[in-house]
Amino acid sequence: MQNSLDINELLIHSDKTIKDALAVIEKNAQGVCFVTEKGLLIGVVTDGDIRRSLINGKGLDTLVSDVMQKQFTSLPVNTPQAEVQKKLSSSIRHIPLVDENNIPVDYACFSRTHRTPIMQPLLNGNELAYVSDCINTGWISSQGAYVKRFEKEFAEYCGAQYAVAVSNGTVALHLALVALGIKEGDEVLVPDLTFAASINAIIYTGAIPVIVDVDKTTWTISLEDIEKNITSKTRAIMPVHLYGHPCHMDEIMAIAKKHNLLIIEDAAEAIGAKYKGQHVGTFGEAATFSFFGNKTITTGEGGMVFFKTKEAYETALVLRDHGMSKTKKYWHDMVGFNYRMTNLQAAIGCAQMERINEFVTEKRKLAAFYNSILAETGVFELPPQAEWAVNGYWLYTAVLKENCGITRDELMDKMLKNGVETRAVFFPLHEMPPYKNYPTKSNFKNADYISQQGISLPSSVNITESELVNIKQAFHTIFDSVKAS
Ligand SMILES: Cc1ncc(COP(=O)(O)O)c(C=O)c1O
Repeated sequence: MQNSLDINELLIHSDKTIKDALAVIEKNAQGVCFVTEKGLLIGVVTDGDIRRSLINGKGLDTLVSDVMQKQFTSLPVNTPQAEVQKKLSSSIRHIPLVDENNIPVDYACFSRTHRTPIMQPLLNGNELAYVSDCINTGWISSQGAYVKRFEKEFAEYCGAQYAVAVSNGTVALHLALVALGIKEGDEVLVPDLTFAASINAIIYTGAIPVIVDVDKTTWTISLEDIEKNITSKTRAIMPVHLYGHPCHMDEIMAIAKKHNLLIIEDAAEAIGAKYKGQHVGTFGEAATFSFFGNKTITTGEGGMVFFKTKEAYETALVLRDHGMSKTKKYWHDMVGFNYRMTNLQAAIGCAQMERINEFVTEKRKLAAFYNSILAETGVFELPPQAEWAVNGYWLYTAVLKENCGITRDELMDKMLKNGVETRAVFFPLHEMPPYKNYPTKSNFKNADYISQQGISLPSSVNITESELVNIKQAFHTIFDSVKAS
């Protein structure tokens, strides 16, 4: 996997000025360019070299050949990869590669051979052993000890009583809604900023989703807009703990009580998050989680529903298994689904549970690291962190301030040129074709802003030290040239 830069995007001719060099550096986002004369490599100039020369009184029209480094590291283009890698260091981040005539034909840097993914699972505990156990014993479908064990352990971790493991986080939402009796014609409030599964699950039931703006401080469903959108048909609210930050649960529960509404928490992104010391997912009549490969713990695909009452829990057990009676085999009292989790999935989940505290701690450490880098730039609103919340920091996401000299999409492009994958915040639901005609009284000012300016950074728990150094360096390089231009 290589980034998309071509050597030509790093070259500048010796008769150009340092102003021209800054433009090249600004575009390539590498903090460096290579100086040529008649096609031959004669020097290297970094943004640091240019800054120092400006401090020393040189003007922007100074020739690049006056400030370039004449002593620098370059290597023949046919140098073995391992040797090239050995020469790269925190002080030599880019090495021009030349042909036998000293013409630069390629270059090496850390990010050319390595891309930091936005998220990847860590599966090097007991996952393989437990999956092998399923295979060796033949328990590979949804019968088998791991399913019950995973339900019990995850429920205990969160402090929940009734847990139903299912095949993914989307069906978890659907099952929760159906088990609680949400049906055609009911209205369910859902925040504008979330993954589409939240609203899709409401639509599957025949209910009408009512999309509500988010609040500016937590990026979760706005209390004011909940009140604005309640009608005589409203039956439920689906708060989504976005990116790991809890919703305002006390206030939401109070509104629900006042209007006799059900609460279904979508906690897919909030494993490990707490509201006033209590795990999210334990407030509403139901709550759901996802264990997709990019979630804080994973089962490959997978999900879980928590219920407050035994009655809803027992209904969900029947619905999960085709609606089949628990006492009379192949007798169906209701139209159910096959939403069962397999023993193989649950086996992975049990192994992940052994490290859940470690994973949440790592996510929070990573967030502290990113907060310090982004705070230095002065152009970001850091992720929400209400004083009453423990943010699970599933996916570290910050908001780039407007008019700061670079757009969110330019920043994403430059990060990728430095070998760093990033992700834009979700598109607001109200803008997308399947959802834009549902009734709402919200104006979506906050969701629009966060969606346009929000950027997520690599958040795997196994991100390496050298990846973190590269990310930090990329931010410095990009924002130094933003300031200089
Ligand atoms: C907020 C939210 N809800 C629901 C889901 C659906 O989960 P799954 O992908 O496991 O179906 C996801 C994530 O994928 C999500 O982020």
